[in-house]
Amino acid sequence: MPLRGSPSKMKGLSMTNENDIKDVDAHSGVETTGHSWDGIKELNNPLPRWWLYIFYGCIAWAVVYMVLMPALPALPFTNGSHTPGLRQHSDRAIVNTTMAEVAETRRTEANALLSASLEEIETDRDLQQFAFAMGDSLFGDNCATCHGSGGQGSKGYPNLVDDVWLWDGTLEGIEYTLRHGIRQEGDDQTRFSVMPRFGADGLLEVSDIRDLTQYVVHLSGREADAEAISRAAPIYAAQCAFCHGAEGLGDRTQGAPNLTDAEWLYGSETSEIYDTIYNARNSHMPAWSGRLSEAEIKALSVYVHSFGGGE
Ligand code: HEC
Ligand code: HEC
Repeated sequence: MPLRGSPSKMKGLSMTNENDIKDVDAHSGVETTGHSWDGIKELNNPLPRWWLYIFYGCIAWAVVYMVLMPALPALPFTNGSHTPGLRQHSDRAIVNTTMAEVAETRRTEANALLSASLEEIETDRDLQQFAFAMGDSLFGDNCATCHGSGGQGSKGYPNLVDDVWLWDGTLEGIEYTLRHGIRQEGDDQTRFSVMPRFGADGLLEVSDIRDLTQYVVHLSGREADAEAISRAAPIYAAQCAFCHGAEGLGDRTQGAPNLTDAEWLYGSETSEIYDTIYNARNSHMPAWSGRLSEAEIKALSVYVHSFGGGE
């Protein structure tokens, strides 16, 4: 073997036999590899044992893994796929089985909802939990666009989380509203009432409507023009009390809101109230029977009833 390293650095040379001359670093006493860069030599330290064993372990593990699990891609015999491995593991197959299991559980749970009464669903812990989970996702998909993601409502769309109800806040009442909707054409059991368009249809003078606006402001406990109130009182009794009640407390059989509370469907400003009396709103809520399954309507009813305002 030819000598490596420059002659000036051959102080530490040791000879074992003629052919095997090893370069030993004088400082550490460790053999060098013989490589030298600008006088810096590489010590030929053995790899630490622990490191070596881990390394061999990894190789062994990789071989075992390759045999057991899907591993080698695009070999001629794998048909454009990969080697399947002895365990035939497939994440895709696992997902399919899990999905099938979930669908099966859902079907069983939906059947359980179908055969239980609304009260049973609300009082049985398992049924209730299932109804909440189902109701939560259905609400997001079908109701949140109008009623807000938490059911808090917005102008023209009632708040479902308070205890103020236009129609009926009992479990059965909510279910009925969902099933048949409100002013839903084509459903002859839909909740229905029509507030007349007092201004737009010329039933009352503009001055009457101004006075009535003051009257409604007064009903809700706010300060209003006293003369307007006394002029409006008989008109209110004749035109409005039939639906909103003599004291303005509303009538749930007609979906007529309570005018004395602080909850306003269409706004509490004078201009908004004037607008409501002039044009009437008569808004519309879709009917869900036919669009949602029976089990889904039940789940949603229990869910909405639980919002806090349920009676
Ligand atoms: C297109 C908009 C719209 C969608 C979608 C909608 N609603 Fe409504 N909902 C309304 C309106 C408007 C009213 C009030 C109608 C009225 O004036 O009486 C209402 C009323 C209600 C009421 C009666 C409230 C009360 O005070 O009596 C309930 C309960 C209700 N909705 C639940 C739902 C649920 C649950 C869904 C989803 C399945 C849903 N709504 C989807 C517009 C909508
Ligand atoms: C046939 C029944 C009926 C009559 C009569 C009626 N209303 Fe209404 N009113 C309703 C209904 C139902 C609503 C709410 C539903 C809707 O319009 O979407 C309503 C809503 C209102 C609102 C809006 C309340 C809010 O929360 O924003 C006001 C204000 C109002 N009415 C005032 C009057 C006045 C004043 C009269 C008489 C001039 C009158 N109404 C006559 C049925 C009636």
